[in-house]
Amino acid sequence: MRLPSTLFLTVWLCVVTSAEELQVNPLGRASTNSYTSIKDALKAAKPGDTLVLFPGTHKEQVVINKDSITFRGLQDPSADLKPGTNDVSIEYGSHDKKEDDDSATLLLDASNFRAYNINITNTYSSSNTASPAISNLGDNNAFYTCGIHGKQGTFYAHKGSLFVSRSYIEGTVDVIYGRNGNAWFQGVKVGALRKGGTLTAQGREASGDDGWFVFEKGKLAIAKKADSGTKGSVYLGRPWGDYARTVFQNSNLGDVATEAGWQLYTSAQSTKNILFGEYSNTNADGPRVSWAKSMGNAEKITNVLPKYNEWVDAGFIGVSYPV
Ligand SMILES: *[C@@H]1O[C@H](CO)[C@@H](O)[C@H](O)[C@H]1NC(C)=O
Repeated sequence: MRLPSTLFLTVWLCVVTSAEELQVNPLGRASTNSYTSIKDALKAAKPGDTLVLFPGTHKEQVVINKDSITFRGLQDPSADLKPGTNDVSIEYGSHDKKEDDDSATLLLDASNFRAYNINITNTYSSSNTASPAISNLGDNNAFYTCGIHGKQGTFYAHKGSLFVSRSYIEGTVDVIYGRNGNAWFQGVKVGALRKGGTLTAQGREASGDDGWFVFEKGKLAIAKKADSGTKGSVYLGRPWGDYARTVFQNSNLGDVATEAGWQLYTSAQSTKNILFGEYSNTNADGPRVSWAKSMGNAEKITNVLPKYNEWVDAGFIGVSYPV
């Protein structure tokens, strides 16, 4: 037993110590470890590597298909705990592909991805078809201090597990949506752009399925370029599937939501198995629709992401969106 385990340890150490930083600078190559596009850097990257994105706008569509890749901006580590001083953005404008995943500016088709201090935008400007900034298919993927911008369907939690913290997500309708993604939003600010828009559309279709959104210690706000009259008109969510689950807890709803709070997706929809809950929010005037749930306790992160402490950055656990 001794010999093989030593061998494994040696191999493992080699893999770990050889994790590299690859620079991506759209303005030109500075060294052998630098690339002018994220695509080229990803081709060269190995699992465990970090791409350091230089300030500026990286205009490309990005697909992550290797595990354990990290993206960070030069603002990380940052003294500002909000995405406001981020100086890197990845931008692409796509919509209406056969699968929404193919329209995403950043598609995560791998696991253990992390991004720090990066903005991601789908620049498609008309707002009536899903045009995701992010689509997720993998497990244990995380966004820290990121600015995520789009119109309809900005954040697509298609499937897999996600943790988003101290980030800003903006959109018009079904801003955060997906059938089977289990996503925990810790201290995230959601910005509403449209009067009467919907902030979420969770789409779970059966009781045994994955699919859960929880917003904890977050904040709702009217986006800078919102329609006039958006305040007090927005729905927290609508059930894209009959077993949808979405919870807002310990959050400041900022008088953004309409009194009813939640809206049906189709008029004859059964509400029997929908869990749309709220717990201990402020600036959240009701009365809500009869099928909304006022919860007696906060939802636990272990119910949504059972092994979160194995992959979530400890500095972002339990935090609020900074004031
Ligand atoms: C990044 O996003 C944040 C949040 O929307 C915003 O305040 C900031 O100006 C953005 N920075 C860039 C370079 O786009």
